[in-house]
Amino acid sequence: MKLRYFALLIFLLSAITTNSQDFSKMKVKDLYENLCMSCHTSGAVGGSLVNRTWKQGSSDAEILKSIKNGYPQQGMVAFGSVISDAQLQALVVYIRELESQEVKKNITEVEPNRIIKTQQESFKVEVLTTGLKTPWGLTFLPDGRKLITERLGPLRIINTDNTLDPTPVKGTPEVIFDRPEGGMMDIALHPDYKKNGWIYLAFADGWRDENGKSWSQTAIVRGRIKDHTWIDQEWIYKADKKFYMKSGAHYGSRIAFYKGYIYFAIGERGSMGQAQDLSRPNGKIFRLYDDGRVPKDNPFIGDPNIPGGIWSYGHRNPQGLVVDKKHRLWATEHGARGGDEFNIIHKGRNYGWPVITHGINYNGQPITSITEKEGMEQPVLHWTPSIAPCGLTLYDGRKFPNWKNDFFTGSLRAEELHRLRVKNNKVINEEIILKGLGRIRDVRTGPDGYIYLLTNDPGRLLRLVNKKN
Ligand code: HEC
Repeated sequence: MKLRYFALLIFLLSAITTNSQDFSKMKVKDLYENLCMSCHTSGAVGGSLVNRTWKQGSSDAEILKSIKNGYPQQGMVAFGSVISDAQLQALVVYIRELESQEVKKNITEVEPNRIIKTQQESFKVEVLTTGLKTPWGLTFLPDGRKLITERLGPLRIINTDNTLDPTPVKGTPEVIFDRPEGGMMDIALHPDYKKNGWIYLAFADGWRDENGKSWSQTAIVRGRIKDHTWIDQEWIYKADKKFYMKSGAHYGSRIAFYKGYIYFAIGERGSMGQAQDLSRPNGKIFRLYDDGRVPKDNPFIGDPNIPGGIWSYGHRNPQGLVVDKKHRLWATEHGARGGDEFNIIHKGRNYGWPVITHGINYNGQPITSITEKEGMEQPVLHWTPSIAPCGLTLYDGRKFPNWKNDFFTGSLRAEELHRLRVKNNKVINEEIILKGLGRIRDVRTGPDGYIYLLTNDPGRLLRLVNKKN
């Protein structure tokens, strides 16, 4: 062993015994820079950890094991005795972030109207509508027009020629919008819309107190539209007043139907511990009848301390929701720094936040040392580092036959569209289809079989079409 590294080893060992307090308070970036970089840059004894073929295995668990047990014979101490399990986990997340920054350098940004070849299909992107203000949710009317929500309130109509109708729909509920999130969110048509005309909205409901501070909670209404006016409104879900919160974060939302049921999500509103608290509605996915009644075969029925309608819990901020033909519910949710999830949602189950997660806090501090626990569900897939998944569709159109039954998820942070192929409840293939066209807020399969996207910054409606068109 070279003298330099031996000296470093001695330094580390003495640092551990005399001053271990310092490590426990360190953020992950500092941990990495102080404990790892001296040996793990290209050319140094351990080589770069960012751009490498992993010798000891590339999974999170294997990398964690390497850091924990070290390679004492080659000069790397067993960090398991130096820093906490949670910090070991944080280092894995950090290494993943560095890795993905490296990968992103190699993806070229996409310009509209260029033909894009991917693994199974080629397509080009059409810009249908521009000038939208933070569009959030999209749905298709049977007459060829579209309805979109914009975050600050109005419901907008997009004409059959894809021009934006200049007159917003009047009379929709007042929304609370306090940074960073909230406002008008998802929109969906009742499966029997042609017969009953019901349109469902998810939004941040609430009020302002005398100090100007807003109190809000995710709520669902349904109504109809006549002559640019919202009419016949009925409440489908409104939490008890005591559950309205001052936070402006993590409203969840997204609406999915299956036969006579409506599913929707409420994020934990920034109070992470409450995701585990069944006496509160935040951090939960709900199932109700389409008119708002609580089905008798829901879980937790009959417990007076549990608000009606809760279907699953332990969620952070789900913003993608789809029911497949077999009545399985699929959801994506935002993690913190890492640990975004793609889940199958089962009745009554606990999805673990914040007791287990594959991510860490934004400030680099760990949240928990464990990623799995008895009685808590594991995601089908997790994204670390975060992509911030938003919008989810299960492609069942005819225009892209090689994509049939694949999932597509948008992403805010990464500004990417991901395709996921699932077999036996496992993701067997993931591909980044698009990148660099803005934050992708919603993804839908259109009635014409094409894939539609709503982007923010810039606010646009886009469509993926076959290259022949
Ligand atoms: C004193 C030098 C030294 C320090 C400090 C050090 N390592 Fe290492 N590390 C090594 C050496 C040498 C290897 C073995 C490299 C090889 O086999 O190519 C290694 C291997 C690894 C591996 C396995 C790599 C693979 O290809 O599978 C990981 C992961 C790793 N180190 C992470 C870390 C982390 C994280 C830190 C900081 C907490 C750290 N190391 C600090 C020297 C060091």
